[in-house]
Amino acid sequence: MATVKLTNVTKTFDKNITVVKDFSLEVGDREFVVFVGPSGCGKSTTLRMIAGLEDISSGTIEIDGQVVNDLEPRDRDIAMVFQNYALYPHLTVFENMAFSLRLRKLPHEEVYRRVTEAAAVLGITEYLTRKPKALSGGQRQRVAIGRAMVRDSKVFLMDEPLSNLDAKLRNQMRAEIILLRKRINSTFIYVTHDQTEAMTLGDRIVIMRDGYIQQVGTPEEVFERPKNLFVAGFIGAPQMNFIRCPLKKEGDRYFVVPFGAKMEVGQRKAEILAQKGVQSRSVILGVRPEHITAVEGERPYAFRARIEVNEMMGSEFHLHTVTSDGTDVVVRIPTLALSQEERHLFDAGSEIAVTFGGQAMHVFDDVTEENLCV
Ligand SMILES: Nc1ncnc2c1ncn2[C@@H]1O[C@H](COP(=O)(O)OP(=O)(O)OP(=O)(O)O)[C@@H](O)[C@H]1O
Ligand SMILES: [Mg+2]
Repeated sequence: MATVKLTNVTKTFDKNITVVKDFSLEVGDREFVVFVGPSGCGKSTTLRMIAGLEDISSGTIEIDGQVVNDLEPRDRDIAMVFQNYALYPHLTVFENMAFSLRLRKLPHEEVYRRVTEAAAVLGITEYLTRKPKALSGGQRQRVAIGRAMVRDSKVFLMDEPLSNLDAKLRNQMRAEIILLRKRINSTFIYVTHDQTEAMTLGDRIVIMRDGYIQQVGTPEEVFERPKNLFVAGFIGAPQMNFIRCPLKKEGDRYFVVPFGAKMEVGQRKAEILAQKGVQSRSVILGVRPEHITAVEGERPYAFRARIEVNEMMGSEFHLHTVTSDGTDVVVRIPTLALSQEERHLFDAGSEIAVTFGGQAMHVFDDVTEENLCV
């Protein structure tokens, strides 16, 4: 059992710079929670407070129900993997992994058992006698994780453990962490600024900005029901498009009117707008590039966009378009079903008509930037 609970945790550095503000979160036993957000938003500071490497200015942190605010890092039963996992260059992989156990004066057989078990799980058994310099980046990363694993900790903290690796290795290690997580019975808190890592690894994602939690939810929740414009823009790639436009209420139906096109808001979302008593007003409309489709001819529910750049991504085009008033709109078009002729409709310089469905729309308050449909 290992739960982690933060209650109103705040961190103020000298000169009254508060970098983590009123942070409250309960991480369940064996849950995998990811902190994500832009550089400087307080992810590492929060993780370091959980580990005990940083004092807490106010609030409480509990591990398994015990307040650990004043507990030394070594007494918290936590393992941590950092971005810059320095391995000891003069020690073998085995001794690197055994290091903390030797410090704790564990019996030799116990050290041997734990190191070889962790190595087997991580697939690095054959490298145990090598020195770190004879390993690839991904193998070194596994040793760093192994070094944390042997300690049999209740809670695993990882701070951007993959950010030193190239894109291909990062994808591979991401898959390995998913497998690893199934094999170790531990609670994980994982920090990244990469939304793909957050989406693929997390049971729940905590999205942070300027020291504040913006939203906590499953990957599905934060993708489909982002609480505000910031979360909507941060989660998903390519990024969600944002269009300032009027929202019109007609009876109990709602329409958005981007660039003169009139599109009905989906029924479920319209019901929420009605419940909130939203009247006709100006809004920011959000729509993801993959939810936009091209249509032929003039339609009242489509608007025109000129293609500036067409990026061929393999199975789809990423179109960077500009609308009548100069707003940028990115559109993803799957290419599989298109003939060669049809593909030319999407050449740079062409104009297309685009539209999207009522369920794909996100409607944000143009002042508070809160999602009006959740
Ligand atoms: N020891 C310190 N003294 C003063 N300010 C600090 C200290 N450590 C961090 N900060 C500030 O706290 C803020 C949050 O830093 P933190 O390292 O937690 O960000 P982060 O979300 O991990 O960012 P990154 O993605 O770049 O790693 C930053 O503005 C940083 O400059
Ligand atoms: Mg950091």
